[in-house]
Amino acid sequence: MSSTSIEAPAASTGNAVSVQATTDRVSSGWVLILGATSGIARALAHRLSQDGHSLILAGRNQEELTRLASDLRLRHNVNAEVAEFSALDYASHPEFFENCIRQTSGRLKGVLLCYGDMLPQAATEKSFDDARRVIDVNFTSAVSILSQAATYLEERKSGFIGVISSVAGDRGRQSNYTYGAAKAGLTAFTQGLRNRLYKSGVHVLTIKPGFVATRMTAGLLNTKSPLVASPEKVANDIVRAIKRRRTVLYTPWFWRPIMALICSIPESIFRKMKL
Ligand SMILES: NC(=O)c1ccc[n+]([C@@H]2O[C@H](COP(=O)([O-])OP(=O)(O)OC[C@H]3O[C@@H](n4cnc5c(N)ncnc54)[C@H](OP(=O)(O)O)[C@@H]3O)[C@@H](O)[C@H]2O)c1
Repeated sequence: MSSTSIEAPAASTGNAVSVQATTDRVSSGWVLILGATSGIARALAHRLSQDGHSLILAGRNQEELTRLASDLRLRHNVNAEVAEFSALDYASHPEFFENCIRQTSGRLKGVLLCYGDMLPQAATEKSFDDARRVIDVNFTSAVSILSQAATYLEERKSGFIGVISSVAGDRGRQSNYTYGAAKAGLTAFTQGLRNRLYKSGVHVLTIKPGFVATRMTAGLLNTKSPLVASPEKVANDIVRAIKRRRTVLYTPWFWRPIMALICSIPESIFRKMKL
């Protein structure tokens, strides 16, 4: 396996892309994973690598991303690059995205938004800073970076955008409504994006996981519960949904009827429930 090291053009915002790319494999298209250190994103990265995709792994923790990239190259013999991405540094997003396009020589075919932040509901009720962080990481920053991705793919008239929202956005509950509100905004945004990009042939998938065993839910869930899915199961569902050009994915599937039931409860009853 031959290996080349490519240095990205210097980025004044600090999101330089450090690259270790393997060159002896025909790429089946580049996919940018935003928030690649997330539990679901890691499983997705392995799943996409198995299909031969080249990946840009973007996120804050460069050490972790570099380890993941090496692992992917070793196991699957794919191109795997690492890029610095901070969701809340909106000003850096245009240059970050341009660097990604340059790194893939204009062959970026997909973007997966996998990062997110969930603080305890009580914290977001006491501190507006905490509430704003939840809203900005899960929603505002997504508007910023997805707008870059949408414009690029729309011009190319192909590709896909997958966005991890949540079942929490389907109905506001007292236990999680700040995070739920941010995800509801994200769901509506991706719905509109799908409508806008339809005529250009760009596919937009809204992903709504239920409970998934990751760092985000560590200590909050009984991982033995049949309602709790593994990141690998969710990643498989996501890849299948992209291939089939599905629009909205509930993963695992049973969250669709569960959420339909929850959404059908009249508000007069729902407001008295402890959910
Ligand atoms: N786990 C669940 O039960 C569940 C259910 C429904 C939806 N979701 C959604 O699924 C997605 C993935 O969740 P997960 O459970 O896999 O997450 P996770 O393992 O907790 O990882 C969260 C990711 O978000 C990144 N992140 C947080 N704040 C960021 C910021 N300001 N800038 C850049 N990156 C930031 C983290 O980066 P660092 O590594 O640098 O901290 C990490 O990569 C999220 O959108 C989440 O809301 C999860």
